[in-house]
Amino acid sequence: MPAQARRRRTFAVISHPDAGKSTLTEALALYAEVIDEAGAVHGKSGRRGVTSDWMEMERKRGISITSAVLQFAYRDCVVNLLDTPGHGDFSEDTYRVLAAVDAAVMLLDAAKGLEPQTLKLFDVCRARGIPVLTFVNKWDRPGREALELLDEVEQTIGLRPMPLTWPVGIAGELRGLVECATGEFTRFTRTAGGATRAEAQLVPEAEVAAAEPEFWPAAQDELALLREIGAEYDEKDFLAGTATPVLFGAALTGVGVRRLLDALVDLAPAPEPRDDADGNPRPLEAPLSGLVFKVQAGMDRAHRDRMAFVRICSGRFERGMVLTHAATGRPFATKYAQAVFGQQRTTVEEAFPGDIVGLVNAGALRPGDTLYAADPVHFPAIPSFAPEHFAVVRAADTGAFKQFRRGIEQLDSEGVIQVLVSDLRGDQAPVLAAVGPLQFEVVTSRLESEFRAPVTLEPLGYTVTRRTDEAGAALLAGQSEVEVLTRRADGALLAVFSNKWRMETIRRKFDDLVLEPLPAGVTR
Ligand code: G4P
Repeated sequence: MPAQARRRRTFAVISHPDAGKSTLTEALALYAEVIDEAGAVHGKSGRRGVTSDWMEMERKRGISITSAVLQFAYRDCVVNLLDTPGHGDFSEDTYRVLAAVDAAVMLLDAAKGLEPQTLKLFDVCRARGIPVLTFVNKWDRPGREALELLDEVEQTIGLRPMPLTWPVGIAGELRGLVECATGEFTRFTRTAGGATRAEAQLVPEAEVAAAEPEFWPAAQDELALLREIGAEYDEKDFLAGTATPVLFGAALTGVGVRRLLDALVDLAPAPEPRDDADGNPRPLEAPLSGLVFKVQAGMDRAHRDRMAFVRICSGRFERGMVLTHAATGRPFATKYAQAVFGQQRTTVEEAFPGDIVGLVNAGALRPGDTLYAADPVHFPAIPSFAPEHFAVVRAADTGAFKQFRRGIEQLDSEGVIQVLVSDLRGDQAPVLAAVGPLQFEVVTSRLESEFRAPVTLEPLGYTVTRRTDEAGAALLAGQSEVEVLTRRADGALLAVFSNKWRMETIRRKFDDLVLEPLPAGVTR
């Protein structure tokens, strides 16, 4: 079993929208020979049919909300690539995905470098101690200089770049890549649209020097400079999260993609024992344990089911085994375990640490939950973000109140949005609390299409959230521009304020008022 775990590489790509994440995902799958045509993975417009109302919304807006999981074999490894939502408004989902990976690929657009959402997601990786590899994409078109991009990474996020490959030719005029450690040069021949693989050809140094009188010496100078400043690969620094291996390429034409796969297999860490809530690591060979990091409904219109994505943390998973749901102590049968490949599913018979299993009929499971067999374990909860947008939601049609209530309950337990309640407002008018406003659209669209419960939203002017306690709730009761609500999911008492100045004014009035900040979202 530990041998199986050692073969796993489980990672996600973090990037700003448009940097090329979907393109890279497809290219990786293409090179690993799981699919034979780019475009078969993501439901981007025109590329593939949609399978649910919800995906219809994604298609219309051209955004990816669902976190698909892609598993493929490469060399002697099994690679699990977890997709993260492209839009910052769904950053809570992304955060949950990052709780389930062992490494991340930070994808940069060669013309843009570090962009806001990349920075925010990198912060999450740093906070969780996830080692990061960097892929500089779109080198086939004009962009910034390689050294300048590396400098930006080091200066802005304090991550020391360790290039594994180096481009010969400026962005937009790429001739090929040099392997920094050996000096070996690979020339790439472009193919149309990236739908087939770029031809890679090893070329002897003398030949490339003669063929590229301008770019080859420039690349050699840069490589000499890199050696001088000690930029060679250091495993300890990579795993400690203080340095990042850097690769260059173009996902669209497949340049550097195989090299990235090799780097993932050679350098990215295999699953390690995960700490439980008391800080004790659960050995990989311990009985089965898994972390639910995503719950999603509406993936299959025909079945109206609900799927929980579980990252296996220890032990060997076998379909049919009965697990215990740590939060409730109830048994959970896994007869319908599935692998989710883009939007397709296949039955999973067994899985090992690092793998992702989709469990259907997952009505009781919530993101952050633990499942285990035999030897009880509880992994730490995945923290919820501080919501910054609030709205009261009501059933537009009072005759559909039952459906409304069921819908709200389900969306809440999937973690699509936070649902806040209070005695004052009653269950006819719960408050929806979002990290990003697009979450409201998902909720209203799903309530209408899946639950036949059209709703109205009344925005509330709160922007700041703090966690408080019973005593705090009593102190705040008589104050204006603040309200205390209970988060349905975990019973946390949240004080929501119109703005931070109002919060500070109130805080000054009460010496022992408890107001704890929550983790901030990554929308800005
Ligand atoms: P995302 O998932 O990160 O949002 O990005 P996506 O892959 O959709 O890529 C964004 C745009 O960048 C796409 O162009 C894509 O073709 C292009 N792109 C991705 N990688 C490369 C690359 O290596 N080189 C070049 N030149 N372009 C790249 P689009 O015109 O917006 O969409 P599409 O019509 O091509 O799908």
